[in-house]
Amino acid sequence: MDETKQPKRRPMTVPRFVQAKADGRKLTMLTAYDYLWAQMLDEAGIDSLLVGDTLGMVVQGRDTTLPVTLDQIIYHGEMVARAVRHALVIVDLPFLTYQVSPQQAVESAGRILKETGATAVKLEGGVQQAKTIEALTNADIPVMAHVGMRPQSIRMLGRMSAIQRESDRLLEDARAATDAGAFGIVLELIPGDIAKAISEAVPIPTIGIGAGSDCDGQVLVTPDMMGMTAGFEPKFLKRYTDLRTAIQSATREYISEVREGQFPTAAHTHQ
Ligand code: KIV
Repeated sequence: MDETKQPKRRPMTVPRFVQAKADGRKLTMLTAYDYLWAQMLDEAGIDSLLVGDTLGMVVQGRDTTLPVTLDQIIYHGEMVARAVRHALVIVDLPFLTYQVSPQQAVESAGRILKETGATAVKLEGGVQQAKTIEALTNADIPVMAHVGMRPQSIRMLGRMSAIQRESDRLLEDARAATDAGAFGIVLELIPGDIAKAISEAVPIPTIGIGAGSDCDGQVLVTPDMMGMTAGFEPKFLKRYTDLRTAIQSATREYISEVREGQFPTAAHTHQ
Protein backbone atom coordinates (compact mmCIF):
# COMPACT_ATOMS: atom_id res chain seq x y z
CA MET A 1 0.00 0.00 0.00
CA ASP A 2 1.18 3.55 -0.80
CA GLU A 3 2.44 4.85 2.58
CA THR A 4 1.11 8.36 1.87
CA LYS A 5 -2.43 6.91 1.51
CA GLN A 6 -2.40 5.12 4.88
CA PRO A 7 -4.89 6.56 7.40
CA LYS A 8 -3.14 8.79 9.96
CA ARG A 9 -2.34 6.74 13.03
CA ARG A 10 -3.64 8.22 16.27
CA PRO A 11 -1.90 7.60 19.60
CA MET A 12 -3.48 4.68 21.46
CA THR A 13 -5.23 5.80 24.64
CA VAL A 14 -6.93 3.76 27.34
CA PRO A 15 -10.45 4.62 26.06
CA ARG A 16 -9.44 3.64 22.48
CA PHE A 17 -7.93 0.42 23.76
CA VAL A 18 -11.20 -0.47 25.49
CA GLN A 19 -13.26 0.66 22.49
CA ALA A 20 -11.34 -1.76 20.23
CA LYS A 21 -13.17 -4.66 21.89
CA ALA A 22 -16.59 -3.11 21.25
CA ASP A 23 -15.51 -2.49 17.63
CA GLY A 24 -14.39 -6.10 17.23
CA ARG A 25 -10.81 -5.06 16.43
CA LYS A 26 -8.09 -7.39 17.77
CA LEU A 27 -5.44 -5.71 19.90
CA THR A 28 -1.72 -6.37 19.45
CA MET A 29 0.83 -6.15 22.24
CA LEU A 30 4.53 -6.97 22.54
CA THR A 31 7.03 -6.46 25.31
CA ALA A 32 9.78 -3.83 25.06
CA TYR A 33 12.60 -2.97 27.40
CA ASP A 34 14.63 -0.23 25.68
CA TYR A 35 14.50 2.74 23.30
CA LEU A 36 15.67 1.03 20.10
CA TRP A 37 13.24 -1.87 20.26
CA ALA A 38 10.34 0.30 21.39
CA GLN A 39 10.94 2.65 18.45
CA MET A 40 11.04 -0.23 15.91
CA LEU A 41 7.92 -1.94 17.24
CA ASP A 42 6.01 1.33 17.53
CA GLU A 43 6.92 2.33 13.97
CA ALA A 44 5.76 -1.10 12.77
CA GLY A 45 2.28 -0.36 14.13
CA ILE A 46 1.92 -2.27 17.40
CA ASP A 47 -1.07 -1.13 19.52
CA SER A 48 0.58 -1.51 22.89
CA LEU A 49 4.01 -2.10 24.44
CA LEU A 50 4.40 -3.80 27.78
CA VAL A 51 7.51 -3.10 29.82
CA GLY A 52 7.15 -6.52 31.40
CA ASP A 53 8.97 -7.80 34.44
CA THR A 54 10.05 -10.60 32.08
CA LEU A 55 12.99 -8.24 31.76
CA GLY A 56 14.30 -10.17 34.78
CA MET A 57 14.70 -13.18 32.51
CA VAL A 58 15.21 -11.93 28.95
CA VAL A 59 17.36 -8.89 29.79
CA GLN A 60 18.94 -9.70 33.15
CA GLY A 61 19.35 -13.46 32.59
CA ARG A 62 17.64 -14.49 35.84
CA ASP A 63 15.43 -17.55 36.42
CA THR A 64 12.29 -15.69 37.50
CA THR A 65 10.75 -12.21 37.49
CA LEU A 66 10.99 -11.90 41.28
CA PRO A 67 14.29 -9.96 41.59
CA VAL A 68 13.17 -7.06 39.35
CA THR A 69 13.02 -3.83 41.35
CA LEU A 70 10.89 -0.72 41.00
CA ASP A 71 13.96 1.36 40.09
CA GLN A 72 14.92 -1.11 37.36
CA ILE A 73 11.47 -1.19 35.75
CA ILE A 74 11.37 2.63 35.87
CA TYR A 75 14.78 2.78 34.15
CA HIS A 76 13.51 0.55 31.31
CA GLY A 77 10.02 2.08 31.22
CA GLU A 78 11.41 5.59 30.72
CA MET A 79 13.45 4.50 27.67
CA VAL A 80 10.44 2.76 26.12
CA ALA A 81 7.96 5.59 26.74
CA ARG A 82 10.42 8.17 25.33
CA ALA A 83 10.71 6.19 22.07
CA VAL A 84 7.01 5.68 21.48
CA ARG A 85 4.77 7.94 19.37
CA HIS A 86 1.58 5.86 19.11
CA ALA A 87 1.49 2.67 21.18
CA LEU A 88 -0.04 2.49 24.65
CA VAL A 89 2.85 1.94 27.08
CA ILE A 90 2.06 -0.23 30.09
CA VAL A 91 4.64 -0.95 32.80
CA ASP A 92 4.58 -3.97 35.14
CA LEU A 93 4.49 -3.41 38.88
CA PRO A 94 7.32 -5.70 40.08
CA PHE A 95 6.96 -8.31 42.83
CA LEU A 96 6.36 -6.77 46.28
CA THR A 97 5.92 -3.24 45.01
CA TYR A 98 2.12 -3.50 45.37
CA GLN A 99 1.21 -6.62 47.34
CA VAL A 100 1.86 -5.03 50.76
CA SER A 101 -1.06 -2.59 50.65
CA PRO A 102 -3.15 -0.46 48.26
CA GLN A 103 -1.19 2.56 49.50
CA GLN A 104 2.10 0.92 48.54
CA ALA A 105 0.61 0.17 45.11
CA VAL A 106 -0.48 3.80 44.55
CA GLU A 107 2.97 5.04 45.58
CA SER A 108 4.79 2.56 43.30
CA ALA A 109 2.48 3.10 40.33
CA GLY A 110 2.61 6.87 40.89
CA ARG A 111 6.41 6.76 40.60
CA ILE A 112 6.10 4.69 37.41
CA LEU A 113 3.72 7.13 35.72
CA LYS A 114 5.61 10.24 36.88
CA GLU A 115 9.13 9.00 36.15
CA THR A 116 8.60 7.02 32.92
CA GLY A 117 5.88 8.86 31.03
CA ALA A 118 4.02 5.55 30.55
CA THR A 119 0.22 5.53 30.55
CA ALA A 120 -0.70 2.52 32.66
CA VAL A 121 0.53 -0.19 35.00
CA LYS A 122 -0.09 -3.94 35.11
CA LEU A 123 -0.32 -6.10 38.21
CA GLU A 124 -0.88 -9.81 38.79
CA GLY A 125 -4.11 -10.96 40.41
CA GLY A 126 -7.88 -10.62 40.28
CA VAL A 127 -9.91 -11.18 43.45
CA GLN A 128 -6.77 -10.88 45.61
CA GLN A 129 -5.90 -7.48 44.15
CA ALA A 130 -9.40 -6.02 43.73
CA LYS A 131 -8.97 -3.43 46.52
CA THR A 132 -5.61 -2.41 45.06
CA ILE A 133 -7.01 -2.05 41.52
CA GLU A 134 -9.78 0.12 42.99
CA ALA A 135 -7.27 2.30 44.88
CA LEU A 136 -5.20 2.77 41.71
CA THR A 137 -8.14 3.67 39.51
CA ASN A 138 -9.40 6.06 42.22
CA ALA A 139 -6.00 7.75 41.91
CA ASP A 140 -6.55 7.96 38.11
CA ILE A 141 -3.89 5.36 37.40
CA PRO A 142 -5.07 2.99 34.63
CA VAL A 143 -4.54 -0.66 35.57
CA MET A 144 -4.33 -3.82 33.53
CA ALA A 145 -4.83 -7.02 35.55
CA HIS A 146 -3.11 -10.36 34.87
CA VAL A 147 -4.85 -13.62 35.74
CA GLY A 148 -4.23 -17.30 35.09
CA MET A 149 -0.56 -18.21 35.39
CA ARG A 150 0.97 -15.45 37.52
CA PRO A 151 4.78 -15.61 37.26
CA GLN A 152 5.22 -13.58 40.47
CA SER A 153 3.49 -16.46 42.32
CA ILE A 154 6.04 -19.00 41.07
CA ARG A 155 7.06 -19.92 44.63
CA MET A 156 3.43 -20.86 45.42
CA LEU A 157 2.61 -22.43 42.04
CA GLY A 158 5.82 -24.46 41.84
CA ARG A 159 6.60 -23.95 38.16
CA MET A 160 6.35 -21.30 35.48
CA SER A 161 4.43 -23.40 32.95
CA ALA A 162 1.52 -24.46 35.19
CA ILE A 163 -1.64 -24.25 33.04
CA GLN A 164 -4.52 -22.80 35.06
CA ARG A 165 -7.73 -24.82 34.63
CA GLU A 166 -10.05 -23.78 37.47
CA SER A 167 -12.64 -22.03 35.32
CA ASP A 168 -14.84 -20.71 38.17
CA ARG A 169 -11.90 -19.13 39.96
CA LEU A 170 -10.50 -17.64 36.75
CA LEU A 171 -13.85 -16.13 35.83
CA GLU A 172 -14.20 -14.76 39.36
CA ASP A 173 -10.73 -13.18 39.08
CA ALA A 174 -11.55 -11.58 35.73
CA ARG A 175 -14.89 -10.25 37.01
CA ALA A 176 -13.31 -8.89 40.21
CA ALA A 177 -10.61 -7.06 38.21
CA THR A 178 -13.26 -5.64 35.87
CA ASP A 179 -15.55 -4.52 38.70
CA ALA A 180 -12.59 -2.91 40.49
CA GLY A 181 -11.89 -0.73 37.43
CA ALA A 182 -9.20 -2.52 35.39
CA PHE A 183 -9.23 -1.49 31.71
CA GLY A 184 -7.87 -4.80 30.43
CA ILE A 185 -6.77 -8.25 31.57
CA VAL A 186 -3.88 -10.43 30.50
CA LEU A 187 -4.90 -14.11 30.45
CA GLU A 188 -1.82 -16.33 30.72
CA LEU A 189 -1.72 -20.11 30.20
CA ILE A 190 -5.45 -20.83 30.26
CA PRO A 191 -7.26 -23.43 28.13
CA GLY A 192 -8.83 -21.80 25.06
CA ASP A 193 -12.45 -22.54 26.02
CA ILE A 194 -12.05 -20.89 29.43
CA ALA A 195 -10.33 -17.84 27.91
CA LYS A 196 -13.21 -17.60 25.39
CA ALA A 197 -15.82 -17.72 28.18
CA ILE A 198 -13.97 -15.02 30.15
CA SER A 199 -13.62 -12.83 27.05
CA GLU A 200 -17.37 -13.09 26.45
CA ALA A 201 -18.18 -12.41 30.11
CA VAL A 202 -16.24 -9.18 30.64
CA PRO A 203 -16.62 -5.88 28.72
CA ILE A 204 -12.90 -5.00 28.87
CA PRO A 205 -10.29 -6.43 26.46
CA THR A 206 -8.62 -9.72 27.33
CA ILE A 207 -5.07 -10.09 26.05
CA GLY A 208 -3.98 -13.69 25.74
CA ILE A 209 -0.63 -15.41 26.03
CA GLY A 210 -1.07 -19.16 25.85
CA ALA A 211 -4.84 -18.64 26.05
CA GLY A 212 -6.02 -19.55 22.54
CA SER A 213 -7.45 -17.52 19.70
CA ASP A 214 -10.63 -16.12 21.25
CA CYS A 215 -9.11 -13.40 23.42
CA ASP A 216 -9.58 -9.78 22.36
CA GLY A 217 -5.86 -9.39 21.76
CA GLN A 218 -2.52 -11.13 21.97
CA VAL A 219 0.81 -10.49 23.70
CA LEU A 220 4.15 -12.22 23.25
CA VAL A 221 7.56 -11.61 24.78
CA THR A 222 9.47 -9.90 21.96
CA PRO A 223 12.83 -11.73 22.27
CA ASP A 224 10.86 -15.02 22.14
CA MET A 225 8.75 -14.13 19.07
CA MET A 226 11.78 -12.68 17.28
CA GLY A 227 13.71 -15.93 17.81
CA MET A 228 16.39 -14.40 20.01
CA THR A 229 15.99 -16.58 23.10
CA ALA A 230 17.22 -20.17 23.20
CA GLY A 231 15.89 -23.32 24.87
CA PHE A 232 12.31 -22.06 25.43
CA GLU A 233 9.71 -23.82 23.26
CA PRO A 234 6.26 -23.65 24.89
CA LYS A 235 3.26 -24.76 22.79
CA PHE A 236 1.85 -21.23 22.63
CA LEU A 237 4.97 -19.59 21.21
CA LYS A 238 5.35 -18.77 17.52
CA ARG A 239 8.77 -17.53 16.47
CA TYR A 240 8.23 -15.07 13.60
CA THR A 241 11.88 -14.87 12.67
CA ASP A 242 15.26 -16.24 13.74
CA LEU A 243 17.21 -13.19 14.87
CA ARG A 244 19.55 -15.29 17.01
CA THR A 245 20.88 -17.06 13.90
CA ALA A 246 20.91 -13.82 11.85
CA ILE A 247 22.80 -11.91 14.57
CA GLN A 248 25.30 -14.70 15.15
CA SER A 249 25.97 -15.18 11.46
CA ALA A 250 26.50 -11.41 10.95
CA THR A 251 28.85 -11.43 13.96
CA ARG A 252 30.84 -14.37 12.53
CA GLU A 253 31.07 -12.64 9.15
CA TYR A 254 32.32 -9.45 10.82
CA ILE A 255 34.92 -11.35 12.89
CA SER A 256 36.16 -13.15 9.80
CA GLU A 257 36.31 -10.01 7.60
CA VAL A 258 38.21 -8.00 10.24
CA ARG A 259 40.65 -10.87 10.80
CA GLU A 260 41.15 -11.40 7.05
CA GLY A 261 41.61 -7.68 6.34
CA GLN A 262 38.42 -7.55 4.20
CA PHE A 263 36.87 -4.87 6.38
CA PRO A 264 37.34 -1.95 6.49
CA THR A 265 38.14 -1.30 2.80
CA ALA A 266 38.96 1.93 0.98
CA ALA A 267 35.22 2.56 0.69
CA HIS A 268 34.98 2.78 4.49
CA THR A 269 38.08 4.98 4.84
CA HIS A 270 38.17 8.80 5.19
CA GLN A 271 40.60 10.45 2.70
O1 KIV B 1 6.20 -9.58 32.13
C1 KIV B 1 5.71 -9.85 31.01
O2 KIV B 1 6.37 -9.75 29.96
C2 KIV B 1 4.32 -10.30 30.97
C3 KIV B 1 3.82 -10.88 29.68
C4 KIV B 1 4.29 -12.28 29.55
C5 KIV B 1 2.35 -10.78 29.59
O3 KIV B 1 3.64 -10.21 31.94
